[in-house]
Amino acid sequence: MNIERTFVAIKPDAVQRGLMGKIITRFEEKGFKIIAMKMLEVTQEQAASHYAEHVGKPFYNGLVEFITSAPIVAMVVEGIDAVAEVRHILGATNPSNADVGSMRADFSPIMSCNCVHASDSVDSAKREMAIYFDVEKELCTNWKTMMEIVLDGLSK
Ligand code: CMP
Repeated sequence: MNIERTFVAIKPDAVQRGLMGKIITRFEEKGFKIIAMKMLEVTQEQAASHYAEHVGKPFYNGLVEFITSAPIVAMVVEGIDAVAEVRHILGATNPSNADVGSMRADFSPIMSCNCVHASDSVDSAKREMAIYFDVEKELCTNWKTMMEIVLDGLSK
């Protein structure tokens, strides 16, 4: 089993629309383990670091303005193939292309307000979680979810 960690952010639009609880529930119900979570106001420095790959693109300035406009909820999510699987349950970046039943299809009206961010690779996940968390101190790893307990039982 390939256990991975990924970085997830509930974006300002979803916080403002009161969707935090529903989005967190989707991760929990799927069986993912949330091992760090905090609400914060993204600084200009954090935004520039997070979105460095988009510098120079037409939507960059709007993206930074948006992500710093209201709080986000930053999370580290752990589970089987978490990088790809979390992006799968989020749906495509553009909600118009997102699978029915995905979070972006269900909650997002437009690409610039697509509710949730998730890392696109294990390397991006490591880089992004370090922008928002002290990974040596802030990850809660010394506990088991019910999903882990069920899987432990199956492997015996
Ligand atoms: P996210 O996965 O957080 O990563 C970059 C974000 O830029 C993306 O979600 C979108 O919300 C936003 N964005 C806005 N316009 C575009 C675009 N034309 N192409 C890709 N991303 C865009």
